[in-house]
Amino acid sequence: MQADNRGRFITLEGTEGVGKSTNLQFIQSVLEQYKVQYQLTREPGGTPLAEELRELLLTNREERVAEDAELLLVFAARAQHLSQVIRPALECGEWVLCDRFTDATFAYQGGGRGLDNQLIAQLETTVQRGLQPDLTILLDLPVEIGLARARQRAELDRFENEQIEFFERVRSAYLSRAESDPQRFAVVDASGTLEQVQQQIRDVLSKYLAENLAN
Ligand code: TMP
Repeated sequence: MQADNRGRFITLEGTEGVGKSTNLQFIQSVLEQYKVQYQLTREPGGTPLAEELRELLLTNREERVAEDAELLLVFAARAQHLSQVIRPALECGEWVLCDRFTDATFAYQGGGRGLDNQLIAQLETTVQRGLQPDLTILLDLPVEIGLARARQRAELDRFENEQIEFFERVRSAYLSRAESDPQRFAVVDASGTLEQVQQQIRDVLSKYLAENLAN
């Protein structure tokens, strides 16, 4: 039995090429070892409508996308995802493992695009009504290393096509959020070998699970 009936909400964050996909699988394997019932999901996305919004956000296009339009699309997808997937799962005691959440909005739309954090915080309050991740694992890596990895992939999406300065701002926004909320964030140095990175993740999760999965 958990400390309360609500499931726990774990998010994974990081800039492009930090190894999110591989480490997400690793996190799943740790949760499974501990027999945690969880739903794996992602943002933007996680429901059919939110996945369509994701497609709109990631597609390269001739038309310049206004920063505030981008922000509203992100939150439209999030509102749908919260109502259809995240809240129902947490309410029935399941854990949720989400590949990116609102910290990505503060990092990409706030840091990267330069939108006002207060505007983002207002939307966060409206859409989330106080719901926050319980644990956020931030994979951190120097931007040039991550981008070199990400750019080996065949096709780059609208975000991956941004300049290095954009990702430097994204990374610093992530790090300053982590610094201002050390209780929730675990920053993992993703520059080591896969084994070293996964050892750090295992340590974070084991400690968290020991505290939150009471017998
Ligand atoms: P990913 O599947 O590689 O994580 O791609 C999702 C992209 O969407 C990534 O480049 C970051 C971006 N994004 C935002 O700009 N704002 C957000 O709030 C979220 C969740 C993602």
